[in-house]
Amino acid sequence: MKILIVGSGGREHAIAYSAAKSPKVDKIYCAPGNAGIGSLAECVPIPVMDFERLAEFAKGHVDFTIIGSEDPLVGGIVDYFRTEGLKVFGPDQKAAILEGSKAFSKDLMKKYHIPTAAYETFDSPNAAAAYLENAKMPVVLKADGLALGKGVLICNTLEEAKEGVKTIMEDRKFGAAGSRLVVEEFMTGREVSVLSFADGKTIKVMSSAQDHKRAQDGDQGLNTGGMGTFSPSPFYTAEVDSFCKKHIYQATVDAMAAEGRPYTGVIFFGLMLTGDGPKVLEYNARFGDPEAQVVLPRMKNDMVEVMEACVEGRLDEVDLQFEDNAAVCVVLASNGYPVSYGKGYPVKGLETFDGKDGYYCFHAGTALKDGKVVTNGGRVLGITAKGDDLKQARKKAYEATDWVQFDNKYMRHDIGKAIDEA
Ligand code: AMP
Ligand code: GLY
Repeated sequence: MKILIVGSGGREHAIAYSAAKSPKVDKIYCAPGNAGIGSLAECVPIPVMDFERLAEFAKGHVDFTIIGSEDPLVGGIVDYFRTEGLKVFGPDQKAAILEGSKAFSKDLMKKYHIPTAAYETFDSPNAAAAYLENAKMPVVLKADGLALGKGVLICNTLEEAKEGVKTIMEDRKFGAAGSRLVVEEFMTGREVSVLSFADGKTIKVMSSAQDHKRAQDGDQGLNTGGMGTFSPSPFYTAEVDSFCKKHIYQATVDAMAAEGRPYTGVIFFGLMLTGDGPKVLEYNARFGDPEAQVVLPRMKNDMVEVMEACVEGRLDEVDLQFEDNAAVCVVLASNGYPVSYGKGYPVKGLETFDGKDGYYCFHAGTALKDGKVVTNGGRVLGITAKGDDLKQARKKAYEATDWVQFDNKYMRHDIGKAIDEA
C-alpha cells in the first residue's frame, strides 16, 4: 500500500521510519517532510494546513494518510479527508478538541471524575485577576488554545500571576489561544508521557516515556517543544499503570464517546505522579515529539496495521507489544532555541549512522540546499539509541551526538539523568 504522512518534524521522521518497516507499505510520501524524511519517503511540498491540495494529492497517490501534527488535526483535516472519501488516521475535529482547548479538556475531566489539578476558566482578564487575589501561589496559567507547547506560565507571586494574565489575555503573546484562560492549581511530582492508540471505544497504551521540556540542564531556562526523552520511564510502575488504566485511560475514551466525540487516533496523556496519585496535566491529540522518537523504535507491532485497526474500529484485536529494552533521544538544537537562532548551517557526519543497528538520527528542522543537508529550525536532529537498559541507551545516544556537527550545535547534557534516582 501507499501512504502519506502529514508533518515535517522528528516525530514524522519516526512515523516514516516505522511505516517503512511495515511489509504492507511499498511507497511513502510526506508533506512537507524534511531532509531526513526524504531518505525514506518522497517529500511533497504541500503545507500541512492546505487540506484541499493534500486531499487532492492523497486521492491520486495513496491508500492511507497519517496525520502527525496537531494544527491540521485541530483544524479539521480528518473531517475534510473523510468527506472526500479518503482513509485517514487521526481524531476528527470534534475529538481533537481534547488538545485544541484546555478549557474543554479540564471540563471533561471534572465531569467524568478523571484526576487532574483543580482549576477555573476565565474569559475576561479582570475576572481572572480578581480570582488570583485569593489564589494559592505558585499558580499555573494556561492559554486555552494551541500554543506550540509554550502557552503555560508558572507564577510564584501574585504580581507575576497578574503580569501573566496580561501577557496571555491582553498582549496575546500566544495569539488567539489567549482569549480564554485556565488558572490551575500547581502540582509537584515526576512527569510521564503515555501515548496510546484509540478506536473510539478501545484504548491500548504504549510504553511510557519522559520528556525534558526546559531548554537548559537541570530543568532551567524556557519551556521548549522537548529537548530529549527516554523510554520506558522507571517511575511508571505497575501500580501507577494499574491506577491509570482504572481511572484515566479508558475513562477518557468513554467520556469522549459519551459526549458524542468518539476518539480515533493517538491520545497522548501528559501525567504528573503527585503525592495524591497520578493526575492528568494535559492531553495531546497526536504522538509526542520527541516521545515518538523513543517509543516507536521499541514497538514490535506493525504500526500501520495498528493504525488501520483504529480506523476500522477493531483495536480490541490488537496485542500491542514493546521490546524489553530502552531508548534515549537527545535533541540537537540550534543555540538560541526556543527564542531566536540562525538557520542554513551545513550538517556534517550524518553518514556515520548508516548501517549502525540501534542508532537513529531523526531529522526535525533540516532542509536540503544544493543537495546538502542544512539546519532549518530550532530543534535540528533527534539522536536516538536503543540499549539493553536506560543507562546503556543513554551512553550510546550521547556517544552518537558526537557523530554529527553543525555550527551553533546545542544540547542538554542531562537527558535521562533522572534514571539514576530510580
Ligand atoms: P502542559 O502544556 O499543560 O503540559 O504544560 C507544560 C508544562 O508545564 C508541563 O509539562 C509541566 O511541566 C508544567 N505544568 C503544567 N500544568 C502544571 C500544573 N498544574 N502544576 C505544575 N506544573 C504544571
Ligand atoms: N514533547 C511534548 C509534546 O509533544 O507535546
